[in-house]
Amino acid sequence: MNVFRTMPVEDILTRGERSGLIRRLTGKDLIGFGIGIIIGTGVFTLAGIEAKDHAGPGVVLSFVVGGIVAALAALCYAELSSAVPTAGSAYTYGYATLGELFAWIIGWDLLLEFALGAAVVSRSWSGYIANLLGLPAEWFGEDATVNVGAILIIAALTAIAVIGIRESSWVTNALVVVKVAVCVLVVVAGLFFFTGAHLDPFIPPSQPAAESATALEQPLVQVLLGMEQSMYGIGGVFTAAAIVFFAYTGFEALANLGEETRRPKRDLPVGLLGSLVVCTLLYVLVAIVLTAMVDYRQIDEGAPLAAAFQSVGQPWVAALISLGAVTGLTSVMMVELVTIGRIGFAMSRDGLLPPKLSQVHPKWGTPHRMTIGGAVVIMVLAGFVPISELADMVSIGALSGFVIVSLAVPVLRRTKPDLQRPFRVPLSPWLPILSAVACLYLMTNLDVITWLRFAAWLVIGLLIYFFYGYRNAQLAKEAPDTAHD
Ligand code: ALA
Repeated sequence: MNVFRTMPVEDILTRGERSGLIRRLTGKDLIGFGIGIIIGTGVFTLAGIEAKDHAGPGVVLSFVVGGIVAALAALCYAELSSAVPTAGSAYTYGYATLGELFAWIIGWDLLLEFALGAAVVSRSWSGYIANLLGLPAEWFGEDATVNVGAILIIAALTAIAVIGIRESSWVTNALVVVKVAVCVLVVVAGLFFFTGAHLDPFIPPSQPAAESATALEQPLVQVLLGMEQSMYGIGGVFTAAAIVFFAYTGFEALANLGEETRRPKRDLPVGLLGSLVVCTLLYVLVAIVLTAMVDYRQIDEGAPLAAAFQSVGQPWVAALISLGAVTGLTSVMMVELVTIGRIGFAMSRDGLLPPKLSQVHPKWGTPHRMTIGGAVVIMVLAGFVPISELADMVSIGALSGFVIVSLAVPVLRRTKPDLQRPFRVPLSPWLPILSAVACLYLMTNLDVITWLRFAAWLVIGLLIYFFYGYRNAQLAKEAPDTAHD
């Protein structure tokens, strides 16, 4: 068996030229898609929860740590996506460098990240919209028997994603303007209620975890080092960093638009790094303002930002924040649906998923079958399963993808030294290695149960690979000498 066969970079580039996807996106559209998927539940909800549960005002540092790790990974993505623009992103870079088994694992893992992300976010969207419009709790929100709100929003966004990449981009850009404006409003309005005393101590001293916390909820790193389960302190800042990393996940989706960008070599690095810089800045400012407005022990876990403004007698700001959250979450789902279509398309084109899924719609130029197939799975999950607690699976999925992408940079430099690289990660191989180690470290700060669930997902993926993908891969059908060991 040769599960480490690699796909020649030349083949990847030619496939990209003949894919049928249409090059319609500009650099500005990419930044819109980037911010569209990045700002969402992470800042609107997790920032407050993590300040309260793990880091206190130190959650600001957690966002800084998350931003640095995401930036390291984004540099690696920028090099690979501009040198090998493809719809498969990390999956395809893995195929070109580390081999088919790694490629499959990463593709499978990305499908988990984006499908689960969309399902989790759609349930949260449903809750917010019910709150805003006073809709019935039996159909909307976390307590609904059938979460009709979540199903409807996924169905509507899927229709846009299928109709076209340009239409998806217009919708995303409009939503992005609203949510960035709301974040700026939080920061500016929050400054009027800034209470410096709330930031002292900035990192509350470490203390034993709440009695209700079970062993499965302990971060893996504490288990590995035989530490007592604790909260706050420096350890708490890193635990929170791993959890709020969810807020940064998604920027890598831009790398999946390589076959639909007009000038990918220039615009992909700009989109990846540009959107991340804007979001990191906003996140850190929002986290400072939130923890300065409210004592971290009093933060509301349901809608931390809106409640903070309620508590200082500013209900209209609170209402605008809820509106910002709804638009923010809508654009996250929009980009996630677009991305699932591209990843599945690339995996199916290579034979690792059924070939029908990579058919491109003759008129709309989108991978419509994969997009609709993915959306159906998301609707079933979001409609019927209370999965909100699975948000950490999105972070572990993203981080493990980043590890592989980081390692792929030095490997491709060695195997393809002459490849044209419009963007080069500085200090390679050290910076990519640092990126991989940082991502792994953050992963170990996630709890044991998340690792167990992730392992279960990988086992299912491996079974599918060995029973289907390995035999049907295009590489297996081509002459053996084109498949490199
Ligand atoms: N980064 C996205 C969010 O925070 C997934 O909702």
